[in-house]
Amino acid sequence: MTSVATLLAPVEEDLKTLNHNLRQLIGARHPILSAAAEHLFQVGGKQLRPAVVLLIARATMADGEITARHRRLAEITEMIHTASLVHDDVLDESETRRGIPTVHSSFNNRIAVLAGDFLFAQSSWYLANLDNLEVVKLLSKVIMDLAEGEIQQGLSRFDSDLTFEAYLEKSYCKTASFVGE
Ligand code: FPP
Ligand code: MG
Repeated sequence: MTSVATLLAPVEEDLKTLNHNLRQLIGARHPILSAAAEHLFQVGGKQLRPAVVLLIARATMADGEITARHRRLAEITEMIHTASLVHDDVLDESETRRGIPTVHSSFNNRIAVLAGDFLFAQSSWYLANLDNLEVVKLLSKVIMDLAEGEIQQGLSRFDSDLTFEAYLEKSYCKTASFVGE
């Protein structure tokens, strides 16, 4: 069976650059966010969403070279994903993520909510600056789905009568929309 490392090999260097760029982009404006950003990206996640963007970019460019816009789009997807996790950890009162303390448990809820908000806002700004309306529409819908899925989940907590269709709809909004759209 093909390992994940083999699948990601063509973009291994790109993902290292991505992590470096994210730390620069997020920490640049606010010292407090700089601390949260360092914290957020010191242990990179699976980086599935940017990896898909970068793999498709490399596969579809005639010369196999990717552009700054491809890199920025990959960064935007990771920013949105990370923002949603920072907020999710507040809602779930999770103490750790990726083996380290969550932002709200290292700082406090106020900082975590603001850091998540700022990441969302910054990702929207970078998205708008790509000047590609189709991509703006697609990712705006993904962000709406994330919030919708989280609301659906919150409203049906401990509801053992939840239908399978409603469960799938919630899961589509929370996860599949972002990966599959
Ligand atoms: C992880 O769920 C969380 C998500 C996949 C999305 C969370 C989305 C939000 C909090 C809404 C974001 C808000 C806006 C404004 C778009 P999980 O708790 O099932 O998984 P986990 O074990 O990784 O925490
Ligand atoms: Mg959670």
